[in-house]
Amino acid sequence: MKITVVGTGYVGLVTGTCFAETGNEVTCVDIDANKVAKLSSGQITIYEPGLEKLFERNLKEQRLFFTTSLEDGIRDAEVIFLALPTPPGADGSADLSFVLKVAEQLGHLMTDYKVIVDKSTVPVGTAEKVTAAIARNCKTAFDVVSNPEFLREGVAVDDFMKPDRVVIGTNSDRARKVMGELYAPFVRQGNPVIYMDEKSAELTKYAANSFLATKISFMNEIAVLCEKLGADVDMVRRGIGSDDRIGKRFLFPGIGYGGSCFPKDVQALVKSSEDVQYDFRILNAVMDVNEKQKLFLLPKIAAYFNNDLKGKHFALWGLAFKPNTDDIREAPALYIIDALLAAGATVSVFDPEAMANVKQIVGDKITYAEHQYTCLEKADALIIATEWSVFRTPDFHKISTALKNKAIFDGRNLFEVARMKEMGYHYESVGRPSIA
Ligand code: UDX
Repeated sequence: MKITVVGTGYVGLVTGTCFAETGNEVTCVDIDANKVAKLSSGQITIYEPGLEKLFERNLKEQRLFFTTSLEDGIRDAEVIFLALPTPPGADGSADLSFVLKVAEQLGHLMTDYKVIVDKSTVPVGTAEKVTAAIARNCKTAFDVVSNPEFLREGVAVDDFMKPDRVVIGTNSDRARKVMGELYAPFVRQGNPVIYMDEKSAELTKYAANSFLATKISFMNEIAVLCEKLGADVDMVRRGIGSDDRIGKRFLFPGIGYGGSCFPKDVQALVKSSEDVQYDFRILNAVMDVNEKQKLFLLPKIAAYFNNDLKGKHFALWGLAFKPNTDDIREAPALYIIDALLAAGATVSVFDPEAMANVKQIVGDKITYAEHQYTCLEKADALIIATEWSVFRTPDFHKISTALKNKAIFDGRNLFEVARMKEMGYHYESVGRPSIA
């Protein structure tokens, strides 16, 4: 099939490359000429494990093309994916101007039947708006489909190639048939393609992410309770997660969720609810809990240093909002850095991928260590904010020699409490017994 993907950001590039991998001819369109030149010459513009190999192969085998011309890009396409940015506006709702502008242009350009697919996460009712924007100038038949993505950063290729489910929102039989054919190679193992109307598909995306965020905030509150009652959240997590109705995944307490999706999507769903005069109380609480959770370790750290962090120096491991990405959007580490600096402390950081991104924002207010162990030099304590694998089995001898105090504040529950006790650490984590 001939496909066009408009927008070569994270979602667009993964979508385009993965469709090319199953034999389709894919043209990706972007207004950024620099980016298009880079991509056409084989330089990938995002970091996503496994993507580069597929990208290079499909480029070489001429199934993947890049252009700045929407007109050339869509000429022979049967399906056009819109993977454009929908940044949060000042009031928390998604800004649709990029999507609607392209829709309007498509109306002018299309000369035969095409399926236009909303791939970006967009509020309920967007398919209707896109349809209206195209129809304003369009002389041919077309259908607009909502087909939300469920890609996790770091495993996006796998999520795309072997999805748990594909959601296709349209009431048009013609569009359903085209989309069904396109996705058939991805659901061979029997995972479902779920057909529904556009609005339900749009809401499914927000509901999925908001539910997962709720699970996390719920566990973060259980963790607080565990500490107050003297229980261990690891045990409670296992105890409830083995019930199939609850499930084992996304029950890990920590210092809050971050990233480009959960914070934005939860906020947007609250905003959509407000727009129809509904107060989505649970989600307001989910956001509130998450805001507090980012600074969960701070009172513990302050208490250890007799509520005086002035002149103290901290080593911070982990900056990305989660492992295997350089993405620092809404990363808890940034909030911790701000709070420590505000309290008069200094900070030295290490992250395997995200240092450059943090440097752009935080600049020289903190020190960037070249190695996870040099980061510890002269530090009064170690704080862990991201669960990168390289932090999971560190050389504890090196840690205790470098640190001034044998103190670790772990926002991701990486180590066994009993083991830390044996080694003589002051170790505090989230929702588990602390040892002094
Ligand atoms: C998410 C969704 O999983 C994906 O389906 C969607 O389309 C985009 O948003 P992503 O933001 O890449 O993906 O990250 P994910 O792996 O889901 O983690 C989100 C956040 O939740 C991270 O900050 C992570 O640290 C946190 N988290 C996750 C927890 O605190 N506890 C958990 O048990 C799981």
